[in-house]
Amino acid sequence: MNRAMISEPSSQIQRAAALLRAGEVVAFPTETVYGLGADALNPAAVAKVFAAKGRPADHPLIVHLPLNADLAMWAREVPPVAEKLALAFWPGPLTLILARQKRIPDIVTGGQDTVGLRVPDHPLARQLLAAFAGGIAAPSANRFGRISPTTAEHVRQELGDRVALILDGGPCAVGIESTIVDVSRRSPRILRPGAVTARDIEDVLGVPIGQGPGGADEEEAPRVSGSLPGHYAPHTPLALIGRSRLPEELHARVAQGLKLAVLGREAQRIVDGRIYWQRALTDPAGYAHDLYAHLRAMDALGVDLIVVEAPPEELAWLAVCDRLARAASGSGSDEEP
Ligand code: TXA
Ligand code: MG
Repeated sequence: MNRAMISEPSSQIQRAAALLRAGEVVAFPTETVYGLGADALNPAAVAKVFAAKGRPADHPLIVHLPLNADLAMWAREVPPVAEKLALAFWPGPLTLILARQKRIPDIVTGGQDTVGLRVPDHPLARQLLAAFAGGIAAPSANRFGRISPTTAEHVRQELGDRVALILDGGPCAVGIESTIVDVSRRSPRILRPGAVTARDIEDVLGVPIGQGPGGADEEEAPRVSGSLPGHYAPHTPLALIGRSRLPEELHARVAQGLKLAVLGREAQRIVDGRIYWQRALTDPAGYAHDLYAHLRAMDALGVDLIVVEAPPEELAWLAVCDRLARAASGSGSDEEP
């Protein structure tokens, strides 16, 4: 039975903050995806987040902060690059990896010497952080390895029996997880692409930014569970197919007797009783906004295969392509790599 209530926003903020203070786990909306939050300075509370998600202990969580937070309470050093990015993009869909303050429990950082910090830009998240007046450690509010939730209902379906309260802030505006930038090393790097693009960051910093886990001269790359292939996967196998090959590939699979759900970028091209066709929005922001809801809906249809028409290989589509590639590579398996 689900013991979690999906709450009316305004009346529930104080209750959610009180639950956090009492060491309970609360799900809340952010502009990217819903988070599963606990008091970042309470290791027993954070342990409940790992238990609810089924997440391995060595995968660090992001600490969410109110806009007026003193970063020095959380990070040992805040280099000028971090200050510039925080000023430009907070509150917003950007996570900064910084050298951690010692008082942050190991369970939050996976024992690493760094911590991920983010100031989210959803009114309920901001109200909750203001009421709690502390850091909220929160991963996305899904079971480990599965699709991030972008509505309160998604959270209830997946974790409703494991959280004390779900704040309902409607569908998330961005729809995919924050851009993660490691600013704890000599040169900043994007560890996970998101709505804040490399170009947005370069415009602010005035220098090129690296992508991926880092070069040979860097220390060992930090763990980013969102960087594992096989993350963000539906239960149904998922194939990512380019636009030009789509008609023949669909015909071939229908001929094999497969039932398909297709996320296409234009109106349905092949009409067949075995194909459920979902048309996606054609701009990257709109596509990202709807992506996880579409994948969840298609996953629930009981088809044999989800086919996604590959988006263009352009910078604006990078974050969406990253999530789709992971969904495709993890497809059909509930096991983490
Ligand atoms: O948009 C988001 O970032 C959402 C919302 C809820 O804020 N959160 C989110 O959390 O996506 P999660 O746990 O699903 O993904 C956070 C990623 C993980 O891949 C984790 O490994 C990485 O951030 N991360 C956290 N701390 C890190 C650190 N110190 N070094 C490197 N990666 C870190
Ligand atoms: Mg996640």
